Amino acid sequence: QGVFRRELVDVQGIPLFWSTAEQWSQVETFEARPDDLLISTYPKSGTTWTSEIVDLIYNNGDTEKCKRDVIYKRVPFMELIIPGVTNGVEQLNNMQSPRLVKTHLPVELLPSSFWKNDCKMIYMARNAKDVAVSYYYFYQMAKIHPEPGTWEEFLDKFMAGKVSFGSWYDHVKGWWEKKRDYRILYLFYEDMKEDPKGEIQKILTFLEKDLPEETVNKIIYHSSFNVMKQNPNANYTSMNKEEMDHSVSPFMRKGISGDWKNQFTVAQYERFEENYEKKMGESTLKFRSEI
Ligand code: PPS
Repeated sequence: QGVFRRELVDVQGIPLFWSTAEQWSQVETFEARPDDLLISTYPKSGTTWTSEIVDLIYNNGDTEKCKRDVIYKRVPFMELIIPGVTNGVEQLNNMQSPRLVKTHLPVELLPSSFWKNDCKMIYMARNAKDVAVSYYYFYQMAKIHPEPGTWEEFLDKFMAGKVSFGSWYDHVKGWWEKKRDYRILYLFYEDMKEDPKGEIQKILTFLEKDLPEETVNKIIYHSSFNVMKQNPNANYTSMNKEEMDHSVSPFMRKGISGDWKNQFTVAQYERFEENYEKKMGESTLKFRSEI
């Protein structure tokens, strides 16, 4: 059996990549450092975008420094372990501080050292329907996932939380609740699209950093979708074709809000909304309703 297209394996009730599940003790005992910054998201919610922005901030807008390596080495994906291919835990262990750490883990699976060290965390959330669409195309091109099936089948799995990293609904709510007690900046993809300047300012305040307006403008430009799509250090085209096949669907696919309108049928929309209300109706966490 090869390493790709294998079924997900449950870890404490959350479906994860089989190899992450097999190596779970490595992830669980990961040693966070107090000056780590965690970038946490449910998949397809703006992880790469946030990572690029924060790396630009850490380097005071110096785009040359941000070309030192590809995004998945500048901001290692902690729990991504694929035998013979990559190991996020090892990558991070070998990295100098201050580190930027990417995770998709739901709050209950985050290694406890992050809480003990009171690390700062940025969580970015994106509306569920756009995430489901983006995830469907990503499942097709990124071979660490099982086969997605048809869009209809995938949507059912998404709504049931039977996709990698589990339920979107529980994920966004879990991190939202945790924000009460820990240093978590909770951001939304849709807000970043609409007002990158305001959102980047929130990140700067959270990081207790001040940058001149000219530098902030430069960061906005270099982290815009069209520029990142052309940037080989941000667009994942350097990945091996066995892992990610951009001819199936590019990693930098559309980068817009509301693409679900091109994918959902009316019946799917209605079913989705009904289920959404059941799962999210009582939460204080609200996504912009038009999206
Ligand atoms: S991953 O694999 O979970 O880390 O993916 P992630 O980076 O979270 O999400 C990928 C989606 O984000 C879009 N993207 C962007 N949108 C706007 N601006 C910028 N700069 C940007 N960079 C990435 C990317 O296109 C994916 O969304 P879709 O809807 O599929 O286009």
